[in-house]
Amino acid sequence: MSAAELTRSVWDVDADDFPGNAGIDEQARFLLRYAILAPSSHNSQPWRFRIDGNAIHVAADESRWLAVADPDERELFVSLGCAVENLVVAAERFGLDPMVTYPEKGGERVATVTLGGNGDGDDASPLFDELTARRTSHDPFDGESLDVTARERIVAAADADAVALSLVAGETKRAVGELQAKADRLQMEDPAYRKELGRWIGLGVLGHSWLAARVGQAVVSHLDLGDREAAKNSTLVESAPLIGVLTTETDDPVARVETGRVFERVALRASAEGVAVHPMSQILERPDLRGQLADELDPGGAKPQHLFRLGYADEMPEHTPRWPVAVVLDEG
Ligand SMILES: Cc1cc2nc3c(=O)[nH]c(=O)nc-3n(C[C@H](O)[C@H](O)[C@H](O)COP(=O)(O)O)c2cc1C
Repeated sequence: MSAAELTRSVWDVDADDFPGNAGIDEQARFLLRYAILAPSSHNSQPWRFRIDGNAIHVAADESRWLAVADPDERELFVSLGCAVENLVVAAERFGLDPMVTYPEKGGERVATVTLGGNGDGDDASPLFDELTARRTSHDPFDGESLDVTARERIVAAADADAVALSLVAGETKRAVGELQAKADRLQMEDPAYRKELGRWIGLGVLGHSWLAARVGQAVVSHLDLGDREAAKNSTLVESAPLIGVLTTETDDPVARVETGRVFERVALRASAEGVAVHPMSQILERPDLRGQLADELDPGGAKPQHLFRLGYADEMPEHTPRWPVAVVLDEG
């Protein structure tokens, strides 16, 4: 995968181009155009796909794993879960009755989406329309409370057996802001973290986003970066009326893929409601701070898997680029 293959043209996928009369594997290949639009940590896009009849196998691309920021591979699996959910939402739209299964043993395959139905569906789906619209907002929000209906719909989108959504405000949000500032300071003091981040920025995956613009030059050299990032990220937390945290009872790859699936449904629903979403992973990337966050949220022991701001942004950024399907599909 080279930087030259990255493109924003992938966002121009049109549902009218779905090959309704073609074989299931060609239809599956079309669905992948939606899968690759999923969010991922540092836009690392750590996915590989293989089509086998009516099955789409989703695997991790370990070469795109953020080994320094994400030593326990939590974000890797959450990102893969986002891609799985995009596949599910797209397959449902075209009447392909998707079913998600997880392999019993470990290994590189993370999930399989099996397609049924006959591909002639035309189910109106508000989440489907957001697959090509959703994006992450990295800017401060305007502080406005979430509209009550929007909040209810976002909570409903997170309904799942194995994953719980907590919406955090008030005192607990202030505590999250403090943990965030601590996490930023510790990370930016770590040359290995800065080097890894610099590599992804150098590839151009982050486009002109907040991360690239504000951290870009500084990452290579800078001295007071930790304090600056800490102050900025505290502002980001303060400006958000709500922080969402997804937790699970277990802390294994399947729980994390399921977390990614729920997060993506939340992100798509939020996008439909005009609500901006911004994952902030720094706290979860430090085991000690992740433990402190868990204590704040639920002394009962649920494991925080993903944390994000919710609120209203004045402007949304442009889409970030992706490696196209041909680059992430294993043929044969
Ligand atoms: C598991 C995960 C962790 C993320 N962590 C962060 C983060 O800590 N800070 C941030 O600004 N964005 C974070 N993001 C958002 C990504 O940077 C974003 O999804 C990626 O750049 C692609 O852009 P898009 O979401 O606008 O398509 C995260 C996304 C995922 C799925």
